[in-house]
Amino acid sequence: MIIDNHGRQINYVRLAVTDRCNLRCFYCMPDEGIDFVSRDELLTYEEMLRLARLLASEGINKIRITGGEPFVRKNMDQFILNLSQVKGIDTIRITTNGTVTAAYIPVLQQAGIDTINLSLDTLDKERFYKITRRDVFDKVINCLHQLIDNGFKVKINMVVMSGLNHQDIIPMARLAEQHPVSVRFIEEMPFNGDGRLPDTTWNYRQIEQHLLETFPSLEKKPYKPASTTYDYSVTGFKGDLGIIAAYSRTFCGTCNRIRVTPQGMLKTCLYDNGVFDLKALMRNGANDEDLVVAIKSACSNRAKDGFEAERANFSSGRSLSSMTSIGG
Ligand code: 5AD
Ligand code: SF4
Repeated sequence: MIIDNHGRQINYVRLAVTDRCNLRCFYCMPDEGIDFVSRDELLTYEEMLRLARLLASEGINKIRITGGEPFVRKNMDQFILNLSQVKGIDTIRITTNGTVTAAYIPVLQQAGIDTINLSLDTLDKERFYKITRRDVFDKVINCLHQLIDNGFKVKINMVVMSGLNHQDIIPMARLAEQHPVSVRFIEEMPFNGDGRLPDTTWNYRQIEQHLLETFPSLEKKPYKPASTTYDYSVTGFKGDLGIIAAYSRTFCGTCNRIRVTPQGMLKTCLYDNGVFDLKALMRNGANDEDLVVAIKSACSNRAKDGFEAERANFSSGRSLSSMTSIGG
């Protein structure tokens, strides 16, 4: 088992399989993109599977595949199938932008993946273009419906931003009225690749207040430990709503997760800058035991929360990272 220096057990890893993406979301990357890493700097699928097996042997039972956009990496289908065979990993989840995902539905089903997190920030085609700088709204909506029709549990992630899409909060919430989906409103975080600090107008309290004005029956569900989401029900809704205080960081006390970046850096907090180079250790010929010792040692030095991690790593107070190279 991996237990950190604050007594929290780690049982969840978020694995970013690529930093590349076919969208350019405003809150994630500059318009011109970022300098994507060269292929040989990415962890190979074999290296990722090795890490997954090792982590599983240390009590990790859940893996989320993120990116970038996971499905722009070649041979993702085979990787997903191989990952689903790793003993001890009983939950695999994927976060995707839905642009090319529909084609992978049979593979997802074969791998036993039943829940998909779909990034979708607006139901307005023009605002979608403004936010993502790509004209693929119809593809994403089509993907959403195919996922629902194929029986997937769909969690929709909407990053809320003043002016850009706050007017979509209520229409997006209504998706959960009509369909059995979870719509989750996320505070913007400072990972846009150019050091811009997020607009904090739409913090979790403001979002809740706004929802309550239209949906007076909005009711907070009991908090699930290690969850980053405040879940809500609304009378008459087929699905439910969630708010993720990603910038206010109200959930760090029960954090159960670590992250591996596309380049194989271990992150023990979303807000740290990478605390250990797993790829270098692996490519220097480390054996499994060396790797486990390194991971455990990093976890025994974990920041208490996202504020401490941010202070330790970004003395300027600003992160230049892009979410596409972190994995969310
Ligand atoms: N702030 C908040 N959420 C973000 N995401 C990406 N960048 C940011 C950011 N700067 C979320 C998107 C997507 C997931 C990959 O991460 O909603 O669903
Ligand atoms: Fe791509 Fe996701 Fe970043 Fe948008 S938020 S640019 S979909 S990685």
